[in-house]
Order: sequence, then C-alpha cells, then structure tokens
Amino acid sequence: MIRTVVVVGTLLLGIGAVVAQQDQVKVTQAQMKGNGKNAGALAAMVKGEKPYDQATVDAALAQFEDTVKKFPTLFPDSIKGMKPEGDYSYSPKIWEDKAGFEDHIKSFGKAVADAKGKITDLDSLKATLPVIGKQCGGCHETYRLKAT
Ligand code: HEC
Repeated sequence: MIRTVVVVGTLLLGIGAVVAQQDQVKVTQAQMKGNGKNAGALAAMVKGEKPYDQATVDAALAQFEDTVKKFPTLFPDSIKGMKPEGDYSYSPKIWEDKAGFEDHIKSFGKAVADAKGKITDLDSLKATLPVIGKQCGGCHETYRLKAT
C-alpha cells in the first residue's frame, strides 16, 4: 500500500515537472515573440510604413529591457533539448557555452540601455535601431536554431 502511494506520488511529480517544462517553453517563446513584434513595429517606422510614434518606441524599449532582465531565467536546464512549437528553437550551445550566452545578454542589455532616452525622432530611431538589431542577430546566429 505504502509502495503504491509512493509510486503514484512519484508519477504525479513527474507529470507536474513535464507540465512546468512546457509552460517554461511557452513563456520563453512568448517573450521572444514580443521582441519580434516590437522590433517589427520599429522597423515599420524606419521603412516609412508607419508614422513615427514615441509611445511605440518607448513601449518597445521597455519590452526589450524586460527581456534583458528575464533572459537569465528563460533558459533553465529543465528545458534543455525541448522544442518550442513553431519555426525556431534553441541551440544546445545556450547550455554548453553559458558564458558566451551571458556575454550576448550583457551586450544586448547595454545596447538597449544606451538607446533609452536617445530615440526621440525618426532620425535617431534610424540611427539606433541597427545597433539594437545587430545584437538580436548576433545572439541568434549562434544560439537560435531554425526548427527542422
Ligand atoms: C541573448 C540572446 C538573444 C538576443 C539578444 C535576442 N534573442 Fe531572439 N531568440 C533567442 C533564442 C535563443 C531564440 C529561440 C528560442 C525561441 O524561439 O523561443 C530566439 C527567438 C526569437 C524569435 C522567434 C520566436 C518564435 O519562437 O517564434 C524572434 C522573433 C526573436 N527571437 C526576436 C528577437 C529580437 C527582435 C531581438 C532584439 C531586439 C532578439 N530576439 C534578441 C536569443 C536571443
């Protein structure tokens, strides 16, 4: 009897852990999609598809800043090897080269901090967006995989 309870308990714990992992994968992906959405909104202004809008700029920078803060918790060991649904996945290098990944988070954080308060019109947006975009691309090149 005690044995059965222990076995069932362990099974439930196992299921709980899987659900938590899938939640984490979704949380991580949602944060990344948020980056994409905000970067897209900024790019649309640079391309002249949308008029310059300070509120959109400020919201994007705030979201990037939030991402910088959350990055260290977005890729726990528990989601290593898990695949998010969609076009992109994480490279195992995130865990194999943690120091390198943290360097990318730091330099992205710096670019975002430097941009804060500096983007006040279309010209300053045009000058600053590529600096941030370079950080996005630099990290993706090594740590983001195209899903197969
Ligand atoms: C420190 C590394 C790093 C930086 C900096 C970074 N990303 Fe990512 N990004 C990733 C990783 C890893 C993934 C793959 C994981 C995922 O998709 O959940 C990803 C995925 C994405 C995705 C795909 C989301 C999906 O699954 O549909 C988008 C869009 C994206 N990033 C946009 C951006 C933008 C825009 C920036 C810059 C403003 C940025 N990222 C900065 C690491 C980074």
